[in-house]
Formats: sequence, C-alpha cells, structure tokens
Amino acid sequence: MNKRFYITTAIDYVNGQPHLGHAYEKIIADVIARARRSLGQEVFFLTGLDEHGQKVQQAAQAERKNPQEYCDALAADWQAFARKLELTNDDFVRTTQPRHKAFVQAKLAQLHAAGHFYRATYTGYYSTKEETFLTEKDRLPDGTFDASYGEVVELKEDNYYFKLGAQQQWLIDTIEANPEFIAPSYRRNEVLGFLKNNKLEDLCISRPLARLNWGIPLPFDPEFVTYVWFDALVNYASIADAHPDLGLWPADIHVIGKDIVKFHAVYWPIMLKAMGLPLPKQILVHGWWQKDGAKIAKSTGNVVDPVAVINEWGVDALRFYVLRELDIGPDGNWTDAGFRSRYQAELANGLGNLVNRSLSMLKRYRNGIVPARANELAADAARAADETRALFRQSQLQAALQSIWGLVNRANKFVDETAPFKLAKDPAQAQRLDEVLYNLAETCRVLAVLLWPFLPGTATKIYAQLGLTGSPDKLAEATWGGLPAGHTIGEPAPLFPRKDV
Ligand code: ME8
Ligand code: MG
Repeated sequence: MNKRFYITTAIDYVNGQPHLGHAYEKIIADVIARARRSLGQEVFFLTGLDEHGQKVQQAAQAERKNPQEYCDALAADWQAFARKLELTNDDFVRTTQPRHKAFVQAKLAQLHAAGHFYRATYTGYYSTKEETFLTEKDRLPDGTFDASYGEVVELKEDNYYFKLGAQQQWLIDTIEANPEFIAPSYRRNEVLGFLKNNKLEDLCISRPLARLNWGIPLPFDPEFVTYVWFDALVNYASIADAHPDLGLWPADIHVIGKDIVKFHAVYWPIMLKAMGLPLPKQILVHGWWQKDGAKIAKSTGNVVDPVAVINEWGVDALRFYVLRELDIGPDGNWTDAGFRSRYQAELANGLGNLVNRSLSMLKRYRNGIVPARANELAADAARAADETRALFRQSQLQAALQSIWGLVNRANKFVDETAPFKLAKDPAQAQRLDEVLYNLAETCRVLAVLLWPFLPGTATKIYAQLGLTGSPDKLAEATWGGLPAGHTIGEPAPLFPRKDV
C-alpha cells in the first residue's frame, strides 16, 4: 500500500463566517497539496469544522437555535467558502459526524481502560473564547488575564484528567531528535523552552453535563462530555481511520496558526502516544494577519472579507497576495494599497502582460503557429523549475513565488531587449523573430506548470490560450521544449484586467 501524503488544516470553530486568517491557512494547505500532487505524489487533503464546545453552544443560544441546526446552517457556508477558495480537499470533517464521534469514544474508552485518566475536583479558570483552562500562572503581572481570552470564569467542579507529567521528558527528547517536527524552527524553540521551564499540568478532558451538553459523551461516565480540544484534535486520526484503504496515518503536515501550537505540539503527541499511534511528521505553524497594523476583529470592524476580495479581484489574486506577501511563520499586515500594488505590478503588468504580449505577437506575426524550437531562455526556465520543485518539497511557498517571478521578469526583459515589434518590420530578421517568439511562448507554458498550485485558474487559462489540452498540473512537464513546432495556439486574452484605482 502506497503511503499518501496526508495534509490537514486546523478545523475552524463554526461560530461565525470565515475571515482572512481562515482563508490564509486553507490556501497554504491547498497549495502544498497541489504542489505535492504536481510532483507526482498521491495526496489526501483534509479540512473541516470544530462544532462542539461552549463557544459554539453559546453562539447557537444567542441566535435561539439548537446547536446542531446552527452548525448545519453555518457548515453549508463554510463548505461553499472552501469551493470559493478552489480548495482541492479530499474530505471535509465535521466533528458532529457519527464517524468522528464513534472514533473519539473508542479512543477515550481505550485510554480510560489503560489507566491514563483519573477523576478529581478542578478549581481554576476557563476561557470560553479560546476553549481553554487557565491557572494562576496565566495571570498577567497586574492580576488580570490577557484580553485575547475574553471573559474568564472561575470554576470548581469534578472532571476527568489525562496524566501528562510522565510524558514530559519523552516529548522533549522526541522534539529534539526530530528537528522538522515543528516548523519554523523558532516555534520549535518556543515549545522546547516551554517544556523545559514548566511542569506540565494534567489535561482536563471533560466537562460536566450540567455545564455543557454540546459535546461527545464520555463512554465511561454519562455525566460528562468530552473537552472540545480533545475531541477536535482527534479529527486528524478519525478521518484517517474513516479511509482505511488509503493508509493515511501518520499525517505528513498539520498546518496551524501560532495560537494553537501548544495543543498540537504538546497535547496531541502525548495523546497519540497513549493511543499507540505514530506522531505526525510536521506541525507547520503560520503567523497571524492584521489589517492596517491592528488586530482583525469584528467588534471594531477591522476586517478583510475574503469573499468580497475574491468577487472583486478573482480567487487567484487573493491566493497570490497572501502567499507572496507573507512567508509561513511571521505575522502579516494586510493593506488594501499593498494588495492593489502587487496585483497591478506582479499580476497585471508582470505575468499578465508577459503572457498577453507573447501570445498576441505570435498570433499577429506567425498566425499563431509555433516556430522551431529555440533555447535562449531554457536555462532560466530550468533554474526556476528546479528551484520551485525543491522549494515545494520544503513548503517554502513565498520563496517559490519569488523564483517563479524571477522567470517572469527575465522573460519581460527579454521582450524589451529583443524588441520583436521591431524585428517584425524587417524581413531579414524573420529567423530571429521566430526564435524570440518560441522562447516567449515556451516560457509561458513552463510558467503555467510552475504556477498551477498557486494560481490554478490562471495556469489553466494560459494552457488554453496556448491551445494545449489537459491541465498544467504535472511538474514533470515544466521541462523546456514541450511546445512542438507547428502547433497552433488559441486566443490570447488578458489574464488580469487592469483596474483603474
Ligand atoms: O482554534 N490570521 O479554531 P479557530 C491567521 N477550532 N490565522 C488565523 C487568524 C488570523 N488573523 N485568526 C485565526 C480553533 N487564525 C480550533 C482549532 S484544530 C484541531 C482546532 C487561524 O476558528 C488559527 O490560528 O479559532 C487557527 O489555526 C485557525 O485559524 C482556526 O481558528
Ligand atoms: Mg481562535
């Protein structure tokens, strides 16, 4: 059985509409999934929704809906959003699905029987906003809790606990022995620092039914439901288990945001070890977007609506901007001016202009018929293709775009240097013009292949304008010389209409 490349995203709380941060993470995962497929690997890409817990229950109550109906209505919006982003996810998990709930209960029963849990009285604090327990240690110097936790309530109640203490050294050793396990490396260092300087407290894995009923019942005590994070993390394994013939587990990459590293890099590995399952190969941590230098928040109206951006500029422009602007790791800052400027300079005037003038000239001067092969840009194209392949294997998406744009700029410069519009006026230069036109058309073809994971719609249009059938979805086809002499191209048309702004 061939091991598929298994990539996941965080599953989003279904308590509102998707925003830019959600879009960003799903785009990262989709580009990696498409890149791996283009490299020839078999891929399984999972995304979905985190539907249980107090946060969702309260959101449903506020709309006077029962939680399942509330989730069903929103899930339809989120699935439509995934299509709008042109995600190629192979499944969409909802934690209220029976396949997931049954797996969580089976694992809870297994861990309970193996003695990993105990019951005790909890006294402490809870943030519903982040669905997380807090202790005295989490207080700021002024005695309050960070505003990101929202309202924090004091609790005293019985719960079940998962013993973590004995696992601390094992986890440190595992992270140290596997430098790729948490990326980028500064996130890995943060986790190691945390583990070396704090004693892990046992993880509360239940909520009393009296306080919360919107959750998966504990199989060994009907008075409790499962803590939402225990339930949510297990989605990665429950859906792997739902496709037994694909051999999905362990996951290759979990793509997540910087705020949920502890859950993925500390709790999840310990849970997996207790379940007897191997660890994922990598937790890939991205940063957070701000807008105009301030936190994205509905309450202040400081938001970027990804659907509005797509409706105005096209999905490829959004996919391009977020990955070109921000490397996977640091925080980013969205400005409308920055978005427009990249659209104009890199998409419209860079890629769009190159493809449009290359194909229009081929049409005008050679009736759209590809001349004999010529190789002046072959080395530049080969370098971009080699770099892109290597960068895809490391999930270095921003660097791959930079390399690809190196080729776009080289080819635009080649047009300026060779001035085909002048060559066309001089019959003695006919062969030179043939060479120039071949180099340009073939570069456009190679670009379509390299760009497909990022800009699938644009890449497909370039192929169609070149008169090629099929889809530019195999990196093996980025090799120079693929356009045969005598082939007739299709109709050139602008890829990125200029906007007067
Ligand atoms: O945390 N910029 O769900 P969530 C970039 N259900 N990424 C952002 C962001 C921003 N401004 N805001 C949020 C949860 N994110 C849990 C996950 S996984 C088993 C359970 C990212 O809806 C955030 O970092 O609050 C996270 O990775 C994802 O969006 C979902 O956040
Ligand atoms: Mg959150």
